[in-house]
Amino acid sequence: MIGRPNGAPVSITGLGTYAPDRVVTNDELAELVDTSDEWITERTGIKERRIAAPEQAMTDLALPAARIALERAGVKPTELDLIIVATVTPDMMFPTTGSLLGDLLPAPDAAAYDLLAGCTGFVYALAQAHAMVSAGLAEKALVVGGDVLSKILDWTDRSTIVLFGDGAGAVVVERVEDVGFLGFELGADGGGGQHLWLPGSGSRTFADPDRLVKMNGREVFKFATRVMVSSAEALLDEVGRTIDDVDVYVPHQANTRIIDYAARKLGIPEDRVVVNVDKYGNTSSGSIPLALADAEAEGRLTPGSTVLMTGMGAGLTWGSALMEWTANGRVQ
Ligand code: ACO
Repeated sequence: MIGRPNGAPVSITGLGTYAPDRVVTNDELAELVDTSDEWITERTGIKERRIAAPEQAMTDLALPAARIALERAGVKPTELDLIIVATVTPDMMFPTTGSLLGDLLPAPDAAAYDLLAGCTGFVYALAQAHAMVSAGLAEKALVVGGDVLSKILDWTDRSTIVLFGDGAGAVVVERVEDVGFLGFELGADGGGGQHLWLPGSGSRTFADPDRLVKMNGREVFKFATRVMVSSAEALLDEVGRTIDDVDVYVPHQANTRIIDYAARKLGIPEDRVVVNVDKYGNTSSGSIPLALADAEAEGRLTPGSTVLMTGMGAGLTWGSALMEWTANGRVQ
């Protein structure tokens, strides 16, 4: 799906994030499995990640992130009419994390649900919220992207535990005076889904339903390097922009080798690329909002900046969003 919105302009008006306090270094992982700081750093660029406490679930990460985003947008939770939580690690299948979050905020007038699109979930959810707000179905939407992947990893599998971390981000999405989102490109390839999967997590019966993440890293790597480039190029082409127009590139934070490859192929200079995978690892749906927040904190998101976000992940899915940033998200 590719689209250039033709309705009312919509943008992000507030941004908040939350990551658990516990920092786990590569050296600590080397005490659990046969790996090393050197291998992880060289192959992934990751130095450390945050890991949730045993009692923390997705709602516990989503709530503080959402409260910050709402406060920064100047929106009361009771004003929300839509909550979308993009996650593959909800507290449970139902009630959804969106519903639980709506109760805790509280946002009694909001429709609330979860969205499953792997690490691309945040970009998918932005597109949905955009469409509903632009069309007038909702006025004030909260989009949360986040995961607690540590809860579904096989902690004896060195090929996956070194990659992932826990974290969440939230944004408020509202109508603005002009510009905001310029377009979206979203895609899915269920045939490739076998390379990153969670057997036993749904209604299909498996012989060995251990409900832990299984990944063919090399295949995901090939897929990622292809779609990170093709999705961004297709979207820029659709909206009549070029990579030279992009001021801030916020790629999904999976691996610095994937990010470097995509940036080089797209022809975007290093100083426009946001990278924080070194300190968070791959937080799945939390990755793009956590990177956006770091870019904002570093003063890189100025009013009028053109921001390109591209995600990819389980499904297999991919997606890009292009937007013009507004001051702290707030319309001037
Ligand atoms: N520590 C030490 N050695 C390791 C580790 C580890 N943690 N993991 C694998 N190895 C070994 C392998 O066993 C292999 O050894 P061998 O040559 O003796 O067989 C060797 O290192 C090389 O393994 P490769 O898999 O070829 O390593 P590669 O360079 O491809 O890097 C990696 C592996 C980092 C997983 C890479 O393929 C990758 O990043 N893939 C993308 C994964 C990804 O981003 N997934 C998330 C998608 S988003 C989402 O939806 C959650």
